[in-house]
Amino acid sequence: MVVEAVRGARVVVTGAGGGIGAALARRFAAEGARVVVNDLDADAARAVADEIGAAVVPGDASGIVPAARTALGGGVDIFCANAGVGTGGGPEADDAAWELAWDVNVMSHVRAARALLPEWLERGQGRFVSTVSAAGLLTMIGAAPYSVTKHGALAFAEWLSLTYRHRGVHVHAVCPQGVRTAMLRSTGVAGDLVLAPNAIEPEDVAQAVLDGIAADRFLILPHPEVAGYYAARAAEPGRWLRGMNKLQRSYEELRAKEAGQAEDTGVAGQAEDTGKAEDTGKTGQATESATTPAREGEPA
Ligand SMILES: NC(=O)c1ccc[n+]([C@@H]2O[C@H](COP(=O)([O-])OP(=O)(O)OC[C@H]3O[C@@H](n4cnc5c(N)ncnc54)[C@H](O)[C@@H]3O)[C@@H](O)[C@H]2O)c1
Repeated sequence: MVVEAVRGARVVVTGAGGGIGAALARRFAAEGARVVVNDLDADAARAVADEIGAAVVPGDASGIVPAARTALGGGVDIFCANAGVGTGGGPEADDAAWELAWDVNVMSHVRAARALLPEWLERGQGRFVSTVSAAGLLTMIGAAPYSVTKHGALAFAEWLSLTYRHRGVHVHAVCPQGVRTAMLRSTGVAGDLVLAPNAIEPEDVAQAVLDGIAADRFLILPHPEVAGYYAARAAEPGRWLRGMNKLQRSYEELRAKEAGQAEDTGVAGQAEDTGKAEDTGKTGQATESATTPAREGEPA
């Protein structure tokens, strides 16, 4: 199915040197869009762009709109704010780690919107696709900076949507659980064990995004079961938190077992949980990519 809003559109995808961003860039190009591939990793961005005949604008996702606009001949129709860092830890994570998560997972969206809105409002048309995470609807075990900033990204997407929808600006919040990318692989054995059962491919996320655009749906859930978890969290927060805490305790046991088994390392590997509400009653859990290197969460 060719999505009319995509064919011939001028599209920017941030963090598209690999993972979900690369799958989005490939899919948009296959649907007939003109694409700009962005990533901090210039070589990775170039490789994806060469493969699909796209332009490259490397660098921090925060400041690329002017260069991307030029590369696309003067305008941007669809902006995919996809770059993200999976910063793990809790309050003990240092300020630099929290600031990086805030800067990439939230402020890069704000700065892109600031640069795009004048053009979109003048034209009465524009589309902002935010790669949030199920962690933005629920939470992610072991990763407070990630969970908090993904909630922020979702809040910003909601605000954009309700503020500008009558002026032709379409907004989508993409909230997957585990997706098989470098970010997910950085979760290590524990993450593999816990996430493997319901992880999907980056191409599945790209398909969900195309479907979501076609239906003009704000919330795009590549794992449809997340809708039930989200509803359960809202309806019975105490029960949901009890279930999540049960998951946290399972996670701690798993980590303790791992630490005892192979002396491994000292990385603060966070694991992630699975969205399996298995245990407990049914809490919905979010999950996702788990881990993160203590600081950048950058996929290894
Ligand atoms: N993998 C998962 O399980 C999962 C689940 C839910 C949401 N997400 C989200 O999906 C998005 C893509 O993640 P992914 O899984 O494809 O990970 P990934 O690590 O494969 O890709 C992320 C890319 O973003 C780039 N990047 C990081 N900071 C950047 C910056 N400031 N500017 C430009 N590029 C930058 C990285 O170099 C990397 O190529 C992220 O926002 C992530 O939080 C991932």
